[in-house]
Amino acid sequence: MCGVSGYAAHTTQPNSFNNNFLVLPAFTQQLRVSLFRVTLAVMQWHTGRVKELRSDGSGDSAAWIACPPGAVPGAGRYLLAVDGEAVLPHPLFLSEIAQDGFLAASGVPANWAPGTLLRLRGPLGQGFSVPEAARRLALAALGLTSARLLPLADLALRRGVSVALFCDGSPPPLPAAVEINPLNALPEALSWADFLALDLPLEMLPGLRASLGLDHLARLSCPGQVLVFGPMPCGGLADCGVCAVPVRRGYLLACKDGPVVDLKELLEGHP
Ligand code: FES
Repeated sequence: MCGVSGYAAHTTQPNSFNNNFLVLPAFTQQLRVSLFRVTLAVMQWHTGRVKELRSDGSGDSAAWIACPPGAVPGAGRYLLAVDGEAVLPHPLFLSEIAQDGFLAASGVPANWAPGTLLRLRGPLGQGFSVPEAARRLALAALGLTSARLLPLADLALRRGVSVALFCDGSPPPLPAAVEINPLNALPEALSWADFLALDLPLEMLPGLRASLGLDHLARLSCPGQVLVFGPMPCGGLADCGVCAVPVRRGYLLACKDGPVVDLKELLEGHP
């Protein structure tokens, strides 16, 4: 009875405190919607067009994208692309720079064809940053493609750095100066490299230590960074959590804390 009359008192005799109490959540929600709209308005949007598709030999395609220079993402950063039909945006990563745009790494949507118009948001996220002092760079693709690592090879060769790529399957066209090795040779190469850049599909994270030949709790002999590749539907707009990457102290969001994250931090979360 007491509970019922107490409830009745709140609902039939509202005072100013209760009014505020009821109004605040609605105000907060309104504020969130307004902030979301402001964020959308100040965000970098570009128009792009698929110029040409290139098969990578494994059934996937890369795409030459024509777009303004400011839209071209740096190594490891990404654009979210929407065509006229897509419900969810597709992340595009730089593989090669062109005069009027860039080559987006393979895995573009199957419905894209030359002429497809795109709305592009970005560049987004944190990309690779190879230390200036690095002289021997190891690149390793743990997934199907090494295309997202190629801009690093170009950059490193221009700096006079030695580059070795570790991957399985057929590698993309590379400068002759890049040494190509099978992925199972990577553990041995870790003592040679002074920086390691990895491309890792999110679902392969549990096997990362084994791919590096590291025992439980063992540490890497060189620093490195990892591009964690997976779906990023909201690109940091809604904190949806689809791109969450477990680390020692919780989670990183690949879409905005990454997709390139520190290798040591990732390994500490997966001892
Ligand atoms: S894609 Fe939604 S939080 Fe990262």
